[in-house]
Amino acid sequence: MHSQGPPRFIPRRAFCWGIPACHFQPAAQTRGVKVLVTAGPTREPIDPVRFLTNRSSGKMGYTLAGAFVHEGHSVMLVSGPTDLDVPENVDYIPVETAAEMHDVVSRYIGKMDIAVFAAAVADYTPATIEPQKIKKSGDTLTLHLVRTADILGSAREKFGFTGTLVGFAAETENLEANAREKLVRKHCDLVIANDVSQPGIGFDSDHNQVLLVYPDRTESLPLASKHELSLQLVDAIVALKKLMVES
Ligand code: CTP
Repeated sequence: MHSQGPPRFIPRRAFCWGIPACHFQPAAQTRGVKVLVTAGPTREPIDPVRFLTNRSSGKMGYTLAGAFVHEGHSVMLVSGPTDLDVPENVDYIPVETAAEMHDVVSRYIGKMDIAVFAAAVADYTPATIEPQKIKKSGDTLTLHLVRTADILGSAREKFGFTGTLVGFAAETENLEANAREKLVRKHCDLVIANDVSQPGIGFDSDHNQVLLVYPDRTESLPLASKHELSLQLVDAIVALKKLMVES
């Protein structure tokens, strides 16, 4: 992966993401494919001291990025603000807002074989950012929000991405039906769905249990740590890519 890019492009070479044999030699890059992963929440500013965000920790996206690298693939991680260390050997682009994530993804997705959208992108952002801190006045305060761009939903038609497209669906009800609707609406090859209303999985947890929703079938993976699950997901996604190339 080349190192030209926007000013905040930061190639990282510092962190072992937790695999015991962490002195691994990444497999020859020629064996690997190029993967873009989005991760974390976005942060939508209201005024100089406040922002809107969500409960995403970024763990799923970061462990997935590390797992792709561990399996010999090249990864660009585009992430909103998190407390996590960046996995070793990942090309890392930090962003804050949904608009910044949209711009970075639009710039790089054309070079990728696989794109995995694990970020919890804000669906709405303040219509205007107040230049000064908003002072208390009445008993209520109304914020005017506008829709953000759907980054995953832009991948096919707007960005012209032809590789393997994987989305996530964090749902609190009708898990499979909602995930399948997103699969079709956003032209994905796979949607990884998890029920965030279940305690102990999903947002901010170290574990997850997911459904793999493909156009022609659904598979259920058992509860696992996000590290174990990431390796299974990498296998599933790379197998899907191979199938698409062969067909
Ligand atoms: N996504 C995105 N850009 C957005 C919103 C979502 O790229 N502005 C991606 C997420 O990264 C995820 C998928 O779309 O891979 C589904 O996100 P989710 O928030 O569950 O779906 P929405 O389309 O926002 O639908 P809703 O919030 O109504 O369930």
